[in-house]
Amino acid sequence: MIATDLKNSRHAAASIEPMFVERWSSRSFTDKPLTSDQIASLFEAAHWAPSSGNRQPWLFVYATDGPDRERLNSVLNEGNSRWAPKAPMLMLVFARKVTEDGKNIHTAHFDTGAAWMSLALQANRMGLNTRGMGGIDRDAAYDAAGVPRETFESICAIAVGTRGTDSDLDPHIVKQNFANDRKPAGEIAFKGRFSQ
Ligand SMILES: Cc1cc2nc3c(=O)[nH]c(=O)nc-3n(C[C@H](O)[C@H](O)[C@H](O)COP(=O)(O)O)c2cc1C
Repeated sequence: MIATDLKNSRHAAASIEPMFVERWSSRSFTDKPLTSDQIASLFEAAHWAPSSGNRQPWLFVYATDGPDRERLNSVLNEGNSRWAPKAPMLMLVFARKVTEDGKNIHTAHFDTGAAWMSLALQANRMGLNTRGMGGIDRDAAYDAAGVPRETFESICAIAVGTRGTDSDLDPHIVKQNFANDRKPAGEIAFKGRFSQ
């Protein structure tokens, strides 16, 4: 499978669904707003992800514009502030770390990662682009989103929208804005026993 977009020369070494190589995280977005149906579809896909004990520990707090969006934008680090505020939607991602009866949910990150990937692939199918961001002030994210520190872990942010072109980007970022590659699958999966 070979991806077709000009910024994306990925190809898969084994037979897979095209969406896996077609999805990539551009930093460039147009200013076309998302519709409420599109937003609903993104979270619908995310919430069908599998999770340990079906606990569904993921939590997304999103904003598109106005004071809510300003507040969410304020947690971005300097590098991400150069492009992510232009994305039509920004969300902060949290994972519930304790159950109602105080037990640790040690798979919360893993489960929340599954929900994010579902959202990213659904976005791709809808012709939308996503980019995750660990480069945020994770502590400030609690107050920005109104999420309690005691119960949730602050993880990252995600920008969503229609992919833009290089002209929508700060010129300093343009040369990093392409679909990158991966190490061979043989380096991440081992039959029987790990060997270095
Ligand atoms: C949890 C997470 C954190 C990330 N943090 C940042 C970030 O702070 N800034 C950024 O520009 N990209 C960030 N990225 C994007 C990754 O660099 C990108 O996903 C990776 O290089 C693979 O590229 P692809 O998504 O185009 O396949 C992040 C991605 C994930 C999943």
